[in-house]
This record gives sequence, C-alpha cells and structure tokens, in this order.
Amino acid sequence: MSYNILKGKRGIIFGALDENSIAWKTALKVKEEGGSFTLTNAPIAMRMGKINELAKICNAEIIPADATSEQDLNNLFSKSVEILGGKLDFVLHSIGMSPNVRKDRPYGDLNYEWFLKTLDISGVSFHKVLQTAEKTDAMNEWGSIVALTYIAAQRTFPDYSDMAQAKAVLESIARSYGARFAKLKKVRVNTISQSPTKTTAGAGISGFDVFYDYAQMMSPLGNASADDCANYIVAMFSDFTRMVTMQNLMHDGGFSSTGITQDLIERLTK
Ligand code: NAI
Repeated sequence: MSYNILKGKRGIIFGALDENSIAWKTALKVKEEGGSFTLTNAPIAMRMGKINELAKICNAEIIPADATSEQDLNNLFSKSVEILGGKLDFVLHSIGMSPNVRKDRPYGDLNYEWFLKTLDISGVSFHKVLQTAEKTDAMNEWGSIVALTYIAAQRTFPDYSDMAQAKAVLESIARSYGARFAKLKKVRVNTISQSPTKTTAGAGISGFDVFYDYAQMMSPLGNASADDCANYIVAMFSDFTRMVTMQNLMHDGGFSSTGITQDLIERLTK
C-alpha cells in the first residue's frame, strides 16, 4: 500500500546489484511512495548485475560511479541534480565490500592493501559521498542521507573480519558529518544497523547461514527482512523523521537488546 510520503522528493540510490539487494527493494518502495531518483553502482557491478532491469521498472537513469572516486561522485551528484530537475532530498549509501573477506583471509593474516580497500569502499566512501553532496551544494534543506551498517561494528562476529572496522568508521562518519550537515543545511545523516539479510554481500561472509539462524533465534521479532529495511529507509527519507540525525538506528527485531531467548535456551538444552 502506498502513502505517497515521498511525493516530489528526489535522490540517489547506491548499491542495487540484483533483486536481493537492500538498495533494489528500497528503489521499488521509494518509487511506490512517489520519489524519483538516479541509480548508481560501481562500473564493474553494472556488468555483473541487473541494474538495467530495475532502472526500467523505476523509470530511473543510471549513472555509474565507483564510490571511492571523488571524480565519479562529483559527476554523479551534478548530473543527478540536472536529470532530476532540482536539488536532492535523499541519498542511500548501500555499499560494502572486503577483498579479505571475499578471498577468505583469516583475521590473523590480513592483506593490508586489501584492508585499506575495505575501509575505503565500505567506510570512507560515505565521507566522500557526504563531502561531495556538500561541495556540489546538491542537498535541499531537511534532506536525509542514510547508510547501511551491521552490529559487528560494536560486537565481534567471527568471519566479519575487517568489515567490522569499516562499519565502525562508517557509523562514526555519520555522527561527525551529521553534526556538520545539520548546522550547514539541516541535512540529516544516519546509519541503519540491519539484521543479517540474504543478499550477495551477506552470503559472501563465510558461516553466514549459521549467524542468520542464530540472529533469528536471538531476535524476539525475528530477523528484519530486506523489505522491512526498505520500509524503514523510506520512513527515514520522509518528513516524519525530521529531527532524527547522527544516530545508529537498530533495525534488527530486538536482537541488540536481547541477552538470550527462550528459543535459544531450548535449543541449547536439547
Ligand atoms: P549487495 O551485495 O546487494 O550490495 C552491496 C553493493 O555494494 C553492491 O551493489 C556492490 O556493487 C556495491 N559496491 C561494492 N563496491 C563498490 C564501489 N567501489 N562503489 C560503488 N558500489 C560498490 O548486498 P546488500 O546486503 O544489499 O548490502 C547493502 C549494504 O547493507 C552494505 O553496506 C552491507 O554491508 C549492509 N548490510 C548488509 C547485511 C546483510 O546481511 N546482507 C546486514 C547489515 C548491513
């Protein structure tokens, strides 16, 4: 059901690779709620993914950009404002990648060049997005910028490896830039900490199925789905959340406030 709560709002959505991507589901919901946007992803992901299909459904233009390239981001923000016919009200940063995770390097044997790549792609890129939005003066007042994160920034999970450090950087950037952007333009900056979700990035973490099932048992409401996450992002883009900024918002069915659940006790006493 649509409430049209993003009617007339314009934005950019990063990170839709295929129909499982959180960004993909978000694009569909934003469209349904009356928003218009450009879609973007790394040039290499464009070749592997299905972003063209999504662009057709959403009647959106695609502008390739590697989120670590200031030049690409500059082009993306300038062109988006031009194509959409005005300044932006929302941006979704839905980007994560670790070469160390992808190549199964143990945490005690990390490749440091790859570690820096992980930090750049999954963490520092958020600063680059925010700084470009400011420098190109692309945001409207009361705009909303959201990035996706995971609770491994606060607590350790085996095999999340250097992505844990990247997410800690990402969440910290949301606080620091959030303070700056609020003062400058009343733009809001938040991270949403999402439950484990079956996507390409999610499934890339070894042992993912086990921590998906564990989180399911540890969350009184169960794991939040990608569709639920998309709804939450829409709410964060809307005018109903105007005073929320500099937050790391847990979207996890109660996982982060739970010590242990009856489900887990029963499972462990079997
Ligand atoms: P996904 O694999 O569909 O999306 C990740 C996206 O990052 C892809 O579209 C990929 O092309 C893009 N990307 C990688 N390198 C890039 C670069 N240099 N420039 C621009 N884009 C680049 O997976 P998912 O799960 O939808 O991931 C979206 C976000 O949600 C990520 O930040 C991820 O860490 C976060 N998240 C995912 C969870 C999960 O269990 N799937 C849980 C909590 C957070």
